[in-house]
Amino acid sequence: MPEKAWGGRFSEKTDRIVEAFTSSIDIDKRLYSYDIEGSIAHCKMLAEQSIITHEDALLLIQGLGTIKKEIERGEFRFDDSLEDIHMHIEARLVKEAGKVAGKLHTARSRNDQVALDVRMYLRDETSNIIKNLVEFRKTIVDLAKINIDVVLPGYTHLQRAQPVLLAHHLMSYYEMFSRDTERFCDCLKRINVMPLGSAALAGTTYPIDRDYTARLLGFPKVSKNSIDSVSDRDFIIEFLSSASLCMVHLSRISEELILWSSSEFGFVGLPDSFSTGSSIMPQKKNPDVCELVRGKTGRVFGDLIALLTVMKSLPLAYNRDMQEDKGPLFDAVDTLKGCVGIYIKMLPKLKINKEAMRRATSTGFLNATDLADYLVTKGMHFRKAHSCVGEAVSYALNKNKELHELTLEELKSFSLLIEEDIFSILTVEQMIDRRKSFGGTAVKNVMAAIEEAEKNLNQ
Ligand code: ARG
Repeated sequence: MPEKAWGGRFSEKTDRIVEAFTSSIDIDKRLYSYDIEGSIAHCKMLAEQSIITHEDALLLIQGLGTIKKEIERGEFRFDDSLEDIHMHIEARLVKEAGKVAGKLHTARSRNDQVALDVRMYLRDETSNIIKNLVEFRKTIVDLAKINIDVVLPGYTHLQRAQPVLLAHHLMSYYEMFSRDTERFCDCLKRINVMPLGSAALAGTTYPIDRDYTARLLGFPKVSKNSIDSVSDRDFIIEFLSSASLCMVHLSRISEELILWSSSEFGFVGLPDSFSTGSSIMPQKKNPDVCELVRGKTGRVFGDLIALLTVMKSLPLAYNRDMQEDKGPLFDAVDTLKGCVGIYIKMLPKLKINKEAMRRATSTGFLNATDLADYLVTKGMHFRKAHSCVGEAVSYALNKNKELHELTLEELKSFSLLIEEDIFSILTVEQMIDRRKSFGGTAVKNVMAAIEEAEKNLNQ
């Protein structure tokens, strides 16, 4: 069993059960490349500041390089008794480089080291997620564009409300995922702060140059308060809340695709390659991918709540509780990336049942508002028009007809202001195209929104 780095003041060996309980290596080993990169930068800074010699730094850096390759090749032995990735690499460095390895940890602590590693990891993953979201938004815009002629009922309270372009509906998701992208970009500003050199909590007596380390690691900023540096996990919580909100959007689109692919709606067909069957009912084709995205949303919320709860009563500065940050963080990163990744592949393969969508706009009095608006243009005030059309709807319901299926005489019995021109107003095309207010569903507006989105995405 390897000697513990902190073993000096202890007279008893750590109980095996405690080693297993406190170890985080299974989770944090995925930080190895950041840990090594951070250590290399730290060595260079120590040498630059004459805290260690350049020869020693070279030996340390070579040793770290060897260890990195060993881990990459899967030849590195992980061992519970060494707690975490930081201890593993240091312990291995002792074997690789000998006594000089003892100098690596000069002027730093695992507290600032782990904060650095997680920030480097999350900086990369946040950038990856931003890239994935850009790609996903492209697939949304493409789908909207090729379906610019498709209309479907827009819903409120899951009741048919007014017809909209499918493209307009899809572009509403574009807006949501654009805000998510912005939020992740914003997170990045606060992730991208270099904590190393804060040491355990109070800073260090060595003449370190934190700006130099930050430059080597590509950080634009250095953290300002050593106590905050080692105890701050706000950047993780911010990321997890952005991830949760992004999952809300993924869950909502999933829910709609689940509904739309049901025989009750029949608006879309999910690709066979992205659906699964039932082990008992041969006819079934289930939207499991969408359901799982909806379900995994709960996991990511859980990850956020876990971190908020871990942090909420911690006294300053570092506490071991904070080791519990990585499980939820990695889980949320993997889950979100997985969900966005699957949507990028699935969305272009969605079969749009244009006819079914169109058919659904023809019943349910989707043109009632248009009739009321018509009366307003003829001089009636809106509340009166609303109740007048309400009566017409009730009459038509009894006759088992839609408003546009009533005769002019029937319509006139509700208001003499109604003339022959009403029939062209009550068509789906007109209902869509007359909604020209900025942000409305008129074809022209939606095409402009698509064009603007394409411009943004190509930047
Ligand atoms: N594995 C620890 C973590 O993830 C590293 C920091 C440990 N620091 C300490 N003083 N025990 O938080």
